[in-house]
Amino acid sequence: MNDKAGAVALRPRAVRFDFRRAPLHWIPGEPVASHAISGLNLILPLGERGFVEMFRRALPYVADDELREQMIGFMGQEAVHAESHNQAIWEFLRRHGIDPEPILTEVEYLFDRAIIRLDTLPEPLRHRVVVQMLAAIAGIEHFTAIGGDWLLNQDFEALGADPALTDLFRWHGAEEVEHRSVAWNVARYFGARRPRLVTIYLGVSVGLPVGLLAIAWWLVRQDPTLPNMGPVRVVREVNSGMRRGVLPRWRLIGRGFASFVRADYDPQDTGDTAQAVAYLAQSPAAKIAHAS
Ligand SMILES: [Fe+2]
Ligand SMILES: [Fe+2]
Repeated sequence: MNDKAGAVALRPRAVRFDFRRAPLHWIPGEPVASHAISGLNLILPLGERGFVEMFRRALPYVADDELREQMIGFMGQEAVHAESHNQAIWEFLRRHGIDPEPILTEVEYLFDRAIIRLDTLPEPLRHRVVVQMLAAIAGIEHFTAIGGDWLLNQDFEALGADPALTDLFRWHGAEEVEHRSVAWNVARYFGARRPRLVTIYLGVSVGLPVGLLAIAWWLVRQDPTLPNMGPVRVVREVNSGMRRGVLPRWRLIGRGFASFVRADYDPQDTGDTAQAVAYLAQSPAAKIAHAS
């Protein structure tokens, strides 16, 4: 197990956000980039619920006390992330007339059915599926660590971005950096080998950006202040946002893939724990929750 990962005891932090004043285009003058990042609010809660469900099923098989503690801290953090992005859906997107509820209800129904189905599988097969999912989570968590590091270092203030949403994404990004080794350690503990991890990561590297672009396109179409844009136009706008430095560039994903496939890959090499913990100590949402 990665010995550096134990340096910080993971725990969920209480946070309190207030999105009521956030404009829909929360990065001024950057409607498509605003939607591209806002799309995380739609994709993350379900994904993080999935992480918690899989870790809950894996936990009884873990005899290593340090890893168990990391997993419990990880589950607590991911559960609060999911709750906070859900809050953003209702307090921010719905307030601006964008209602993803019908789609989310449908997806949640399918998710719940998949979980029920998993639990009815015979034990050896169920265990194999859980291990496969743990390998996928290790890949996704490399992705979220890269994104988290970008969010932490992005100068949203220079762009005049809304402070509440900036804090939401940076706080989340900081905790992703903080717990970046846990899923990797869990997957390795369960015997997931590098070829499998890399193959799954290839799927993650393609699937996540495509999913995020699709969600950005959906948000753009729901936005009555924007002209009707097709998917190609949205991708072009996203690319131009990347060139202006408002969105993370494709090469960041490429570099992330290159580091993941290296034989000496170490999740700790992505991001900076000290920077993440320093941000978490002064995150406005954590301070407000702490004071109340
Ligand atoms: Fe998260
Ligand atoms: Fe995470």
